Amino acid sequence: MTEFANRVEQVSISGIREVFEAASEDAINLGLGQPDFPTPAHARRGAIEAIESGHTDAYTSNKGTRSLREAISAKYDRDYDLEIDPEDVIATSGGSEALHLVLQAHVDPGEEVIFPDPGFVSYDALTEIADGTAKPVPLREDLTLDPATVEEAITDDTAVFVVNSPANPTGAVQSEADMREFARIADEHDVLCLSDEVYEHIVFEGAHHSPMEFAETDNVVVVSACSKTYSMTGWRLGWVAASNRRIERMLRVHQYGQACASAPAQYAAEAALTGPQEPVEEMVETFERRRDLVVDGLEDAGLEVPTPEGAFYAMPKVPEGWCDEVLDRGVVVVPGDAFGEHGEGYARLSYATGTEDLKEALEIIDDATRAVR
Ligand SMILES: Cc1ncc(COP(=O)(O)O)c(C=O)c1O
Repeated sequence: MTEFANRVEQVSISGIREVFEAASEDAINLGLGQPDFPTPAHARRGAIEAIESGHTDAYTSNKGTRSLREAISAKYDRDYDLEIDPEDVIATSGGSEALHLVLQAHVDPGEEVIFPDPGFVSYDALTEIADGTAKPVPLREDLTLDPATVEEAITDDTAVFVVNSPANPTGAVQSEADMREFARIADEHDVLCLSDEVYEHIVFEGAHHSPMEFAETDNVVVVSACSKTYSMTGWRLGWVAASNRRIERMLRVHQYGQACASAPAQYAAEAALTGPQEPVEEMVETFERRRDLVVDGLEDAGLEVPTPEGAFYAMPKVPEGWCDEVLDRGVVVVPGDAFGEHGEGYARLSYATGTEDLKEALEIIDDATRAVR
């Protein structure tokens, strides 16, 4: 009889979904991983016009339309002074598919993938699906990833290490010095650095840097997406940028698994990237105000929380029983151990929720914290 493949038996459905299922219908949801803003009108219009003119009825090139890849290339020039050939980009079905392509193309069975713990749930699962060996590593006290921790974890069997800044679930932003170190480690150890930059524009202090800016070899690949920056999670449009030889290998996985990213989404993404960026600035300003509100509220409740400098998450240290108490009182938060073993004793709160709901949730959290102390 046909049994299930080991690689899928190793993977379980994300712990985040379990929390959602346990929540009542009128709960305030601080569990969401997507911005609560509409997709900018000009991005929607890009798709509508492409559909109406019949441009979206056929497959695009496997890598995506040339004009989208030129827009992505121009974005890297504008944001980081990085020269990326449009031929060295694949448009994917969200950042998720891009992460999958990187691991499928670079990890042989048993090879190790180092990633942050707590970290985004896909790194572990996609490593298993690539038949790799997951090697989660703990974070610093401020919830950033120490390059020295990564360097110590590298062995002869390491294929990839993952850097994610700004980070899910912590909201932590790596410094430029750290990014330089990650680039050096990738170069010196000849190991691939997968830089997941899907939150690259949601930074409150300073600016995002990519290890790709500092690497001297082609050992850094960058994954990003329209999902968070333009509030386009439902459109499913991301990309991977890397050297041509790496892109050609990843294209083999993409071509047979996906053919091409959805054409309407590609046109929407091109319009988002080339059009006015004010909606992004307004969203980031709103997130920053909410970040301040949430950090103040958590500290007033007596919780210790590193100040998140990006994305839209906060990750306080919480006493035992806290997540259940908060959930019972009608606020959905995600227990830190859903993001890895070292997430235990923390909780992730998303502030992709309106201010009034956030204020109410913080009052409930204050009461719940008192109750479990
Ligand atoms: C760190 C990180 N990387 C990648 C993704 C995947 O994003 P997408 O919706 O573009 O597939 C997410 C989504 O939550 C994320 O948090």
